[in-house]
Amino acid sequence: MHTVRPAGATDVPFLARGVAELIAEIRGAAAEPADDGALAVAQDLVAGRLDGAALVAWSPDGRRHGLITANRLRSIRTRGPYALIQELWVAPEGRALGVGAALISALCNWARSAGCAMVEVGLPLPQSPVHANTYHRYTQWGFTANGPRMRKIVRTNDDPDRR
Ligand SMILES: CC(C)(COP(=O)(O)OP(=O)(O)OC[C@H]1O[C@@H](n2cnc3c(N)ncnc32)[C@H](O)[C@@H]1OP(=O)(O)O)[C@@H](O)C(=O)NCCC(=O)NCCS
Repeated sequence: MHTVRPAGATDVPFLARGVAELIAEIRGAAAEPADDGALAVAQDLVAGRLDGAALVAWSPDGRRHGLITANRLRSIRTRGPYALIQELWVAPEGRALGVGAALISALCNWARSAGCAMVEVGLPLPQSPVHANTYHRYTQWGFTANGPRMRKIVRTNDDPDRR
């Protein structure tokens, strides 16, 4: 049985590396090393300098097997706070054991206690190798489709897809 705990300073390298692995899986490419920018944001998140949560799933034998991060936002349309999941990743050796479900459950509990009425997430594009699995899992975990998310890169020298 895995346990889910809030991330601390010693979890920062795992958070940054896990998110690098997540990005690689979404792209179907090899993972690149976590850069200083990713480490800095992970540090801010675990230190409470960002309004959000970072949770880590631990295996019974004390290994980090998964992570979930989210930010708390406020919008007019939601008439108050809601949570936006930024990253969810379970290490391959920890999959199909309920770790993803445990991370989602813990994140929803955090969101509820933080006054959020709703948790949102953006999924990878349909052509991503992980799209179908991700859509299936989130549906299983009680999420419903809410229309595609779109974006426009506004600093061409800083395209996150080119990093
Ligand atoms: C998507 C992802 C987070 C799911 O994590 P996970 O820990 O494998 O998810 P779960 O274990 O909760 O559920 C997966 C399956 O295991 C099953 N399962 C749950 N608990 C179980 C248990 N105790 N024993 C055996 N199987 C179990 C679930 O029923 C489900 O199987 P099913 O769909 O065939 O019914 C993980 O595959 C991942 O990190 N993928 C790559 C990155 C990614 O796509 N991230 C998503 C955000 S973009």
